[in-house]
Amino acid sequence: MLILGIDTSCDDTSAAIVENGVKILSNIVSSQDEVHKKYGGIVPELASRRHIEMILPVVDEALKKAKVEIKDISAVAVCHGPGLIGSLLIGVCFAKSLSYVNNIPLVAANHLEGHIFSSFLEEEKPEFPFIALIASGGHTSLVRVDDFGRYKELGRTRDDAAGEAYDKVAKLLGLSYPGGPIIDRLAQEGNSKAIDFPRAYLSGTFDFSFSGLKTAVLNFLRKIDSSLLTRHSSLIKDIAASFQSAVVDVLVRKTIEAAKEEGVRNVVLSGGVSANSALRENLTNRALEDGLRVYLPSLQLCTDNAAMIASVGYFLFKNNKLSSMSLNPEAYLPL
Ligand code: KG4
Ligand code: ZN
Repeated sequence: MLILGIDTSCDDTSAAIVENGVKILSNIVSSQDEVHKKYGGIVPELASRRHIEMILPVVDEALKKAKVEIKDISAVAVCHGPGLIGSLLIGVCFAKSLSYVNNIPLVAANHLEGHIFSSFLEEEKPEFPFIALIASGGHTSLVRVDDFGRYKELGRTRDDAAGEAYDKVAKLLGLSYPGGPIIDRLAQEGNSKAIDFPRAYLSGTFDFSFSGLKTAVLNFLRKIDSSLLTRHSSLIKDIAASFQSAVVDVLVRKTIEAAKEEGVRNVVLSGGVSANSALRENLTNRALEDGLRVYLPSLQLCTDNAAMIASVGYFLFKNNKLSSMSLNPEAYLPL
């Protein structure tokens, strides 16, 4: 069974063909980084406009790369939220038209569900139950997953998402967008103990908070001589490494605690921040000490992509959860 997945929830236009929910035949992602770079963050209006331009060529390329035609597709799966409303609208309208014109069933997938299930596209599939850490540019939450469609949110961020904190701190440091991968690279050459940035553990909850950390970086920068902060200085590398260490310490500790408290042995990492080298390494090491098993999606499946939407779409289609032409995008959509 072939599912065409479409994701336009944020700033990437993506289409993928996935066979039986697990085998990727194509996964095309057209990045808008170049468009938003000069603004240091996503400009929603520009994102929607670029989706309009890119959606048709990206879907065409996904079909071509998979060597299939639209008539071979069993269902169109589209991400209908959460995300930027204008961006989501393009994917939803396009998917509805494609479904209507070609008489192909339509299914609507939740973006967060997509991130959680991206690990199912890897060779080794996670076993239920598992704890999923979703850490992206828009969301940071811990979820207990008992089965497909059975979720319990244990905690979430009270302010910034982890990726958002990375992007905002990168902007403070005069770095480009998206800041996560740049800070990750700089941090590898820096001293993570150089600056003692605060960690908000919010004990007794599985919630997160990253805005205090962001302010701490800002206050630190106000006190130093800014001429020392060049792109290749050891100072910028130390700030990056110390900031990253504060984010990763909190994410790792709370994820391990959640697994222990829930009595769950499997942990799944997902969302753009799960591409982070320190997070992947530290979580893997800590989990090993505690006898937990960690599932890490490959790097291209961490950040936004439509293969994860097609994978969720397959399960929805199999369970006959079809959508109608009245489907609307939802900026806020719980799991
Ligand atoms: O999941 P995603 O592609 O989009 C959302 O659903 O938000 O996540 C994008 C976020 C951005 O904030 C980006 O800076 C961050 O993921 N990110 C990283 C890394 N790669 C991407 N953050 C830290 N380290 C990375 N290597
Ligand atoms: Zn995402």
